[in-house]
Amino acid sequence: GTTLGTSAAERGRYFGTAVAAPKLNDSVYTTILNREFNSVTAENEMKWDATEPSRGSFNFTSGDRILNHARQQGMSVRGHALLWHNQQPGWAQSMEGSSLRSAMTNHITQVAGHYRGQIHSWDVVNEAFADGTSGARRDSNLQRTGNDWIEVAFRTARAADPNAKLCYNDYNTDGINAKSNAIYNMVRDFKARGVPIDCVGFQSHLTNSVPSDYQANLQRFADLGVDVQITELDISGSNQANVYATVTRACLAVARCTGITVWGIRDSDSWRTGQNPLLFDAAGNKKPAYTAVLNAL
Ligand code: XIL
Repeated sequence: GTTLGTSAAERGRYFGTAVAAPKLNDSVYTTILNREFNSVTAENEMKWDATEPSRGSFNFTSGDRILNHARQQGMSVRGHALLWHNQQPGWAQSMEGSSLRSAMTNHITQVAGHYRGQIHSWDVVNEAFADGTSGARRDSNLQRTGNDWIEVAFRTARAADPNAKLCYNDYNTDGINAKSNAIYNMVRDFKARGVPIDCVGFQSHLTNSVPSDYQANLQRFADLGVDVQITELDISGSNQANVYATVTRACLAVARCTGITVWGIRDSDSWRTGQNPLLFDAAGNKKPAYTAVLNAL
């Protein structure tokens, strides 16, 4: 193919990008989006603070705008993210215990219910494990409601949208390390006990290199019986094009790696300000990293 999306589709995969709703007014942005990508993730618009700014009162305006654009273009949509310790509304940040637990499940029921049937994959839980060597859960208000909060979240999401693939998503999980081991053990346990989980997302925010066991790590998760997805790819540094190609080839080498999402379109769209980690420059021109990915697909 001549674009990321069509080339990935020829390999049975999707190629997606994060989208920010206000940028849909920028014709340079939407021209690239519509030409190159066949999947989108809302960069912020489906997060808890955006969708439930006050308790029990939901706002889907911006999320719907991204979803409707994607559907009109025939793109699939990743939902991101039902539960996360960051970007919670203020009212939830200060809650705890059983009242937070019921707010949490209601949030999932309402948001996944609103988008029922329209989301390819949901990041049900984002970034619940700690960095470093402990293999522990990250401390958060959600974790303090009880260690079962993650499985409760997945069961609640399944009930709300039975056809969406349900993902656990995290960063610094790109190689085999204590953090990815802990997530691996959770997924294995969920599969053994029938907790509904379908996919694991690897954010893959990388700096000039990728762990040598990246593909092996994707494969071991796939071997548990879940799909794997590269969900927020961006890569800084002088070796950028090579690392983009390596990540692309790793996904293609793993049968259950179903797609790649980059975390923005142009360098000027990136959350990593000044690091230029994306496939298009600020003017919308294709970078060497773009060509490296296209050639690898
Ligand atoms: C980032 C967005 O790109 C920024 O616009 C926002 O200010 C903060 O969140 N991991 C995730 C994403 O799962 O939701 C984050 O997105 C980047 C890190």
